[in-house]
Amino acid sequence: MPVQETDDKVIVTFPNDDTTSVTVLKYGATVISWKVAGEEKLWVSEGAHLDGSKPVRGGIPLVFPIFGKLKDESHATGALPQHGFARNSTWEFLGQVGEKLPSVQFGLGPENIDPELYKKWGGGKYDFTLIFTVTLHDDALKTDIEVENTGNEAFDFNWLFHTYYKIPDITDVLVNNLTDEKCFDQLLAEEYIEKSPVVQFHEEFDRIYKSVRNDKYIQIIDKGKVLMTLERVNLPDAVVWNPWIKKSEGMADFLPKLGYHNMLCIEPGHVSDFVNLKAGDKWSGSQICETHHDIKQQSNIY
Ligand code: BG6
Repeated sequence: MPVQETDDKVIVTFPNDDTTSVTVLKYGATVISWKVAGEEKLWVSEGAHLDGSKPVRGGIPLVFPIFGKLKDESHATGALPQHGFARNSTWEFLGQVGEKLPSVQFGLGPENIDPELYKKWGGGKYDFTLIFTVTLHDDALKTDIEVENTGNEAFDFNWLFHTYYKIPDITDVLVNNLTDEKCFDQLLAEEYIEKSPVVQFHEEFDRIYKSVRNDKYIQIIDKGKVLMTLERVNLPDAVVWNPWIKKSEGMADFLPKLGYHNMLCIEPGHVSDFVNLKAGDKWSGSQICETHHDIKQQSNIY
């Protein structure tokens, strides 16, 4: 069975190869496992809540309509909790939409959101539909989001795929192709140009790389070998995050405490400014996570 639905999740396996699969929890439409030839590619905390009581710590949580927490209370997203409501609402499973490359869809609208939470977005005046599509390739995973404004008023939103990759050890990995990109360092609250030829990790890391051209690949390289190549469509920003020791200790659902060694978030999105979506309009964006590439070194010069 390529697509299996249970009460709380949907499991998709690749045709004739049940060692390649993706599992999506209906809560948050959170991808909680992606295996290629039996090997897990995503990190999920051993302390993650998978019962719908809290956003999942790991996998691919979906962030909408606000990234982080806005300080400006007067903005329509100002009253929303950190990372909005998509990751902590139960999405509707819309069914299978592709067979050769198995693909499934999930939908979210105001009716699926806790009314109190929904009201925190512009007083509950916005009408919208989100369609999330997950497509399994033999060596890649594609996730697409479409946002439609089905109401009468324009609204502002952020979108982010908060992808947690599983890695052998954070101290051995590099991330390439971010040199000369503008970044906002969330820890220093400063904006600067990334000058490192490759990004390495030896302490807490939380940066938003802004307006990174979508023809640039972002790769996680482990000891000279590409673990993951990330391609993006219509998603200009990329957040790179590792909580390191102290921050992990402060997160009750982050287990084991040394788990920060084995995870790295590279989160493509539209977060450094808002998308303004007019009544009746649609917006879409995609991430493609691929396991098969060679190193592609790309600079901003050419
Ligand atoms: C990242 C942010 O996207 O998400 C970090 O850049 C934040 O600042 C992290 O700490 C985790 O957020 P949360 O709400 O899942 O604890």
